Amino acid sequence: MFGSPKQAPSQRNAAAVAFPLKRSVAGIALVSGVVNLLALTSPLFMLQVYDRVLASGSVPTLIGLAVLASSLYAFSALLDIVRGRVLLRIGERFDGQFSGRVHEGVIRLPLVTPMQGDGLQPLRDLDNVRGFLSGNGPTAFFDLPWMPFYLGICFLFHVWIGITALAGAIILVSLTLLTNTLSQRAIRDTIAHNMARNGLLEASRRNAEVVQAMGLGRRLEQRWHKANDDYLAANRRTGDVAGGLGSISKSLRMLLQSAILAVGAYLVITQQATGGIMIASSIMMGRALAPVDLAISSWKPFLMARQSWSRLQELLSKVTAGPSVMSLPRPEKELRVENVTIVPPGEQKPTVIGISFAVPAGSALGVIGPSGSGKSTLSRILVGAWSPAGGKVRIDGASLDQWNGELLGRHIGYLPQGVELFDGTIAENISRFDENPDAEAIVAAAKAAGAHELILRFEKGYETRIGEAGSALSAGQRQRIGLARALYGDPFLVVLDEPNANLDAEGEAAVVKAIASIRERKGLAVVVAHRPSAIGVVDLVLMMEGGRQKAFGPRDEILSKVLKAAASSQLPAGRGFPATASNIAPLRVIANPAPANDAEGDKGTEGPDVQH
Ligand SMILES: Nc1ncnc2c1ncn2[C@@H]1O[C@H](COP(=O)(O)OP(=O)(O)O)[C@@H](O)[C@H]1O
Ligand SMILES: [Mg+2]
Repeated sequence: MFGSPKQAPSQRNAAAVAFPLKRSVAGIALVSGVVNLLALTSPLFMLQVYDRVLASGSVPTLIGLAVLASSLYAFSALLDIVRGRVLLRIGERFDGQFSGRVHEGVIRLPLVTPMQGDGLQPLRDLDNVRGFLSGNGPTAFFDLPWMPFYLGICFLFHVWIGITALAGAIILVSLTLLTNTLSQRAIRDTIAHNMARNGLLEASRRNAEVVQAMGLGRRLEQRWHKANDDYLAANRRTGDVAGGLGSISKSLRMLLQSAILAVGAYLVITQQATGGIMIASSIMMGRALAPVDLAISSWKPFLMARQSWSRLQELLSKVTAGPSVMSLPRPEKELRVENVTIVPPGEQKPTVIGISFAVPAGSALGVIGPSGSGKSTLSRILVGAWSPAGGKVRIDGASLDQWNGELLGRHIGYLPQGVELFDGTIAENISRFDENPDAEAIVAAAKAAGAHELILRFEKGYETRIGEAGSALSAGQRQRIGLARALYGDPFLVVLDEPNANLDAEGEAAVVKAIASIRERKGLAVVVAHRPSAIGVVDLVLMMEGGRQKAFGPRDEILSKVLKAAASSQLPAGRGFPATASNIAPLRVIANPAPANDAEGDKGTEGPDVQH
């Protein structure tokens, strides 16, 4: 019903939806057939009344016909109700079948393409398709095939009546096709503008504090108004096309109705037909053209649903996970990165190229390098958030794409650079919304992250709700709860992207302790860091520069190499050799072991080595 899918993966999706709906569709087609046959009741009743009852003057015949007709009408109404209800349920079934996958798609799409609009278009698309399926638009498709049947009966009445009806049908169908051609683009534009408009508003909403603080409100509003005007204009064009053609078709219908009466009257006058035939053919033609009428009036929703459907198919084909249903044994040996190249979602050029290293269990890897050198990008690949464009990341020999996403997630802890928490309690966030959370594990994780006392200080402790995106917490608090979430359930691989960026000395000590305990329990930690304290507990170091692997090896070896390179360079620190020079300050502290906990404030005093 929604046109042919383009790509192979979407064909699979199409098959998936076609199959369970097939039986309902066949049922509806059958019911529609009966409803359409029953629709002959009215014209045949007219014919009988005019030509037989009036001619013979028999009241009993009239009563008999009336009773027969009434029961047929009642039956027809019943079938129509059934058909409507089944359609409504088909819409729901469709939703039930797809909403989970669409939800997954909405979440995964940003991992493969840049976000468009507010990112919620797939949900609106799902609503469009469901709405269309549940309405009475689809009945037009089931009634249209009956049009030739009614036209045929018109021809049986009289050839001129048939020709008039056929001409009317041709005109109305052409009008429908015209509607199709004219509205398709307008509808696509409307949706595109709507997405742009929603995206703008969503961005302003997300950054409400910045908007307020720096008085961006009015300027953003102007931008939004422009987008809104574009949307309204596109919407108007769509409405104009559909509305204009709808009105034309309505008037045409009335014109045709009169035309067929006129033809019938002429035939009656010239004694080529009876009065009954004149009336019956008028009703018959009305019946034949009704689905065209319905098709024209529901063409806009139909086109919208069809476009929505192809967008959904595209989405599902983009985010359909591979055949990763394997449950692999709990990893315990190593993390291996093989010649990995990374292209961010929606980009053409790689930002990280040629990374290869291996880290055995019980080790901790420190990733260092200047801002923008690809540290965070690499972290995303290690935890499987993005997929590498080339090369493989393997845990105990199995590449990440061989894992089932949810199962792999249990073996991975990830603290992203910008920690985002979810609306819910602290306990729920730490336990990753586990359905059967383990209270002991939650507390253990919080303790390991040095967050236990901090959490108890809240009035409701672990049951404190933290609001959207953790808005009720300070950055440092968020980071520690994020760390607890990463440590929950003792995952094998823990990747921490600048875990100490917002932390005080106490928090940093917690990070150091957490890394040490991961090593102790034969787990594996990867820490992106620019502050010396965290690097102090790692045994391996990977140095990144400009998206490439500059050096990898035992910590002390790499650090002394870095220092030597910087020393032999005649350039003053921070000039011409930014990558290395900018790393000297923190690293020097490690090379000449000094107290790891620099008690300086969070940021600000560090000059060039602050990297984000
Ligand atoms: N989502 C993205 N889309 C496009 N480019 C990106 C994206 N994320 C990061 N980059 C680019 O990749 C490079 C490395 O970024 P990142 O890994 O965040 O650096 P680091 O964490 O070392 O500071 C930067 O040049 C950045 O602009
Ligand atoms: Mg970063």
